[in-house]
Amino acid sequence: MTVNRSLSNVIVLISGSGSNLQSLIDNADDIGIKIECVISNKADAFGLERAKKAGILTKFISHTQYDSRESFDNALTQHINTFNPKLILLAGFMRILSADFINAFTGKIINIHPALLPKFKGLNTHQRAIDAGEKYAGATVHFVTNELDSGAIILQKSITIKATDDAESLAKKVLEQEHILYPEAIKKILLS
Ligand code: GAR
Repeated sequence: MTVNRSLSNVIVLISGSGSNLQSLIDNADDIGIKIECVISNKADAFGLERAKKAGILTKFISHTQYDSRESFDNALTQHINTFNPKLILLAGFMRILSADFINAFTGKIINIHPALLPKFKGLNTHQRAIDAGEKYAGATVHFVTNELDSGAIILQKSITIKATDDAESLAKKVLEQEHILYPEAIKKILLS
């Protein structure tokens, strides 16, 4: 039996390949979302092509055109506000967001991070996990707050780090898990 749910409108922010975006696009109906617009701060982000192919609006806002983080974030806020989204999903968006931006959308911004938070916040997570002799790597979906990679955790998925793994092989394996995790986490929030 099909259960009719109204779709929640979301905005996705990207900076690169957009494989997580692709997973959100592919699972949008099951998650219960309509992606209103994909915004990138990089003109050549492949995720913009993925969005166009799926018939989703795209917007490029270059951070290099603004003289401060705050003014770039202000332009981002204004564009996002035209859609009045229920959620803003960061999918490989590689910019730190200012307090004003985060406060404008309290409780609505969600990020996927390639580590088992609270371990390995920030960049270069896989090499740092290997160097630290960790047994497990993984990914975390969490709410975005003013403290980097520290908001409430929604869901995590872990994989075993093998002796033969390097940062590249780990990144590939974790990314495969991210593609399952992000849709599950968004669905969970929307159903809660
Ligand atoms: C993903 O691994 C995501 O977790 C990570 O960037 C990659 C984007 O891949 N995000 C961060 O590191 C955020 N700090 P994708 O563009 O193929 O989705």
